[in-house]
Amino acid sequence: MASLTIRKLDEHVKTYLRLRSATNGRSVEEEVRVILGELIQGRPELPGASISSAEAPAQAPRPVSTSSARNVTLIIGGGIAAFKSLELIRRLKERHIDVRCVLTKAAQQFVTPLSASALSHERVYTDLFDPGSEFDAGHIRLARECDLIIVAPATADLMAKMAQGHADDLASAILLAADRPILLAPAMNPLMWNNAATRRNVLQLRRDGVQMIGPNAGEMAESNEAGVGRMSEAVEIAAAAVDILRPPQPRPLAGKRVLITAGPTHEPIDPVRYIANRSSGKQGFAIAVAAQAAGADVTLVSGPVDLHDPAGVTVIRVESARDMLHRVQAALPADIAIFAAAVADWRVANEGEQKLKKTSAGMPPLQLVENPDILATISKLTDKRPPLVIGFAAETEHLIDNAKAKIARKGCDWIVANDVSPATGVMGGDRNTVHLLTRDGDDIGVESWPVMTKEQVATELVAKIAKSVEKNS
Ligand code: C5P
Repeated sequence: MASLTIRKLDEHVKTYLRLRSATNGRSVEEEVRVILGELIQGRPELPGASISSAEAPAQAPRPVSTSSARNVTLIIGGGIAAFKSLELIRRLKERHIDVRCVLTKAAQQFVTPLSASALSHERVYTDLFDPGSEFDAGHIRLARECDLIIVAPATADLMAKMAQGHADDLASAILLAADRPILLAPAMNPLMWNNAATRRNVLQLRRDGVQMIGPNAGEMAESNEAGVGRMSEAVEIAAAAVDILRPPQPRPLAGKRVLITAGPTHEPIDPVRYIANRSSGKQGFAIAVAAQAAGADVTLVSGPVDLHDPAGVTVIRVESARDMLHRVQAALPADIAIFAAAVADWRVANEGEQKLKKTSAGMPPLQLVENPDILATISKLTDKRPPLVIGFAAETEHLIDNAKAKIARKGCDWIVANDVSPATGVMGGDRNTVHLLTRDGDDIGVESWPVMTKEQVATELVAKIAKSVEKNS
């Protein structure tokens, strides 16, 4: 049977085919099949043009990726951060991931197809109506013959097009035709990121199952501008890609809602000063990552920390203990609540509305009042109490005894107790030595774990939770 080479057709027939196929969201090849079908059914819609026949397509279709070969289609959007995407190609290739790049028209103002091609060792795609690739549905192949699509930088415009389902260029057509996971690395000016339209688009894209990494806070290319909007670093994006590409792990917490608090709280003294503590939030964030990886729907309420939002986790940033309590209450119901935050025990009762001044009268008196105890409040709920409530006990002496007393006093089910004496380096550090106390009626079991990284503690804790959930279901 003879095959058809679209690229050998008359120019005006090709133009007609491309426009018609783009309008109908089909590949040119599919469109030709539809037209032939219509002709045969006696409903000709073709303009008066002849189609020449020729031999088989010059380029054999690239095989659909298998589980061992990992392929990424990297869409580079038009933004100053595009230069980091060249480094991303390197980082992905280092991780044995093949990369095919698509550059939007705007991206080519910042990086050249030649650089992307040299780094990826692959042809680079730029045009929806590229005769060299569209003869066998280039945009469909780029959307499907990969394991993941990364958009970096994901500009405000590209995200708006995605949220709306536009397909008027190669990048947006690929994204609309995709049935693979999509990871966006947004990058834009902070005002654009915070604009109501972008907020709406981000929400819509998240609902559509699109994953995001960043943006980070920092300096902008525009002089004297800073804020949230910097594209994540290439290594961060590559790590997120590797996570997504990892073969499916068991998801013992699928369908479970997990609520986590993390970080310190800042209790204002006046508009510029606050009381804080040395918590880094690393342990709580690591638990959020582990719970999300176990399939849970995770909400992380965090005090001020210098950590990025973990992918796939709903992160709510708060300042004070009272904000944290309100956001925790609003996030209920949950199946499991883990209170890892180092909440300030006290706040200033007489918070100054203006900056306190040094006066000859000496230091202003600070009156402290007790903050609400979030763990105790949630543990003692009668209606919306999560079935499993876990607290942390950071102690500098009599660790186990204090932790046992805390379980009783606060009414939680488990306590993760850790020694935070300065010599341990736990506060702000990367490692932790913990004891897990579990209450079963009046009995309290104690398990002492070896020194581990905070990620390992998180993985172990989530495994314990999964076991308990399975036992009680
Ligand atoms: O009383 P203490 O601060 O040692 O208790 C630690 C545990 O209680 C941690 O789980 C912490 O997140 C939680 N907590 C809280 N609200 C407070 C104080 C502590 O949720 N105000």
